[in-house]
Amino acid sequence: MKIQKAKNLDNLTSFEQVHLPWIIIPEFVKKGEEFEITVKVGKVDHPMTDEHYVRCIRLYIDGEMFECHNLKMPTHSETKFNISMEKDFEITARAECNLHGAWETEEKIILYRGNNVDL
Ligand SMILES: [Fe+2]
Repeated sequence: MKIQKAKNLDNLTSFEQVHLPWIIIPEFVKKGEEFEITVKVGKVDHPMTDEHYVRCIRLYIDGEMFECHNLKMPTHSETKFNISMEKDFEITARAECNLHGAWETEEKIILYRGNNVDL
């Protein structure tokens, strides 16, 4: 399956705006503490109809598949993953549209290193 990515993040096409996964993470992520990653497809909501829908959203951590969420209708084109990590890591979110293939977005997550702030 061909994986599609943004050609220019500062100037997305209308197709990219509907299909690229948006990764939403907390401002601070602490070592070993569980947090939530929301993946939404896309910046403009992807349709979720019988004819045109997002089949599933996969999350990869440092290149390895973490979870695959099949979307059931009726629903929004988004899902949430719960995770805790011991070191900085990179996530890849992949959305699979039944008509327009797979789309990926990547994000590097740096763990919060402050120690005087009560979060
Ligand atoms: Fe689509």
